[in-house]
Amino acid sequence: MFDDVARRYDLTNDVLSLGQDRRWRRVVVDAVDPRPGETVLDLAAGTGTSAEPMADAGVQVVACDLSVGMLDVGKRRRPDLAFVAGDALHLPFADASFDAVVACLVFEHIDAVDEAVAEIARVLEPGGRFCFFLNHPLLQTPGSGWIDDQIVEPPEQYWRIGPYLTEDLTVEEVEKDVFIPFIHRPLSCYVNALAGNGLLIERMEEPSPPPGFLARAEEYEAAATIPRLLLLVTRKTSPKA
Ligand SMILES: C[S@@+](CC[C@H](N)C(=O)[O-])C[C@H]1O[C@@H](n2cnc3c(N)ncnc32)[C@H](O)[C@@H]1O
Repeated sequence: MFDDVARRYDLTNDVLSLGQDRRWRRVVVDAVDPRPGETVLDLAAGTGTSAEPMADAGVQVVACDLSVGMLDVGKRRRPDLAFVAGDALHLPFADASFDAVVACLVFEHIDAVDEAVAEIARVLEPGGRFCFFLNHPLLQTPGSGWIDDQIVEPPEQYWRIGPYLTEDLTVEEVEKDVFIPFIHRPLSCYVNALAGNGLLIERMEEPSPPPGFLARAEEYEAAATIPRLLLLVTRKTSPKA
């Protein structure tokens, strides 16, 4: 299904890809904080837009994705980058191959959270970092959004939060005849999967949407204080029990 959106993914006005706003990409790269010579796995890298600036900074980055269509678009733009086809549930890499792994906006599309987190822990060096970006599981639940209620007196504007505790699969038609599943889960599900695989949370960030993104997504312009993303920076502390 991501093959069907691959060509449009790099477009600057595509909200699905966070608008490819360079500032979003900066947030991702800053979270990984890669040093030259380190090996970094960009898991579910899409077209490689986060991998690109890391490679330019001298990092040995591998961009891995399930969608051959996404990888092909990336390869055409950056033939010098390492693009590898692979499934998050069965990563085609040896144990302890990477100093850091980053996964941005993919767990919403993965059924088996524990298995995918276990794979990430497996390919990380002991002491390695995992940077985990998600659509904010609390504030972006299905049914959440900006409400501008002009019927009540006085009128009210607020951010409504949809059902939180229930795990929920929504299939969105992101363009004509292209359907992508999005899974909502409570935050505890992710935190417990990380903890169960020896990934200790060292930092959490809820970056505010950058102005470039706000200008493209009307609902956010009115709700600039509501984060779209959640970032957890974790460190591998022990092998899986
Ligand atoms: C919303 S895009 C995010 C792409 C990129 N991380 C970014 O920030 O632009 C989700 C990506 O996850 C990939 N994906 C979905 N399920 C996957 C899986 N099981 N293993 C690897 N990649 C997967 C899709 O092919 C798609 O490229």
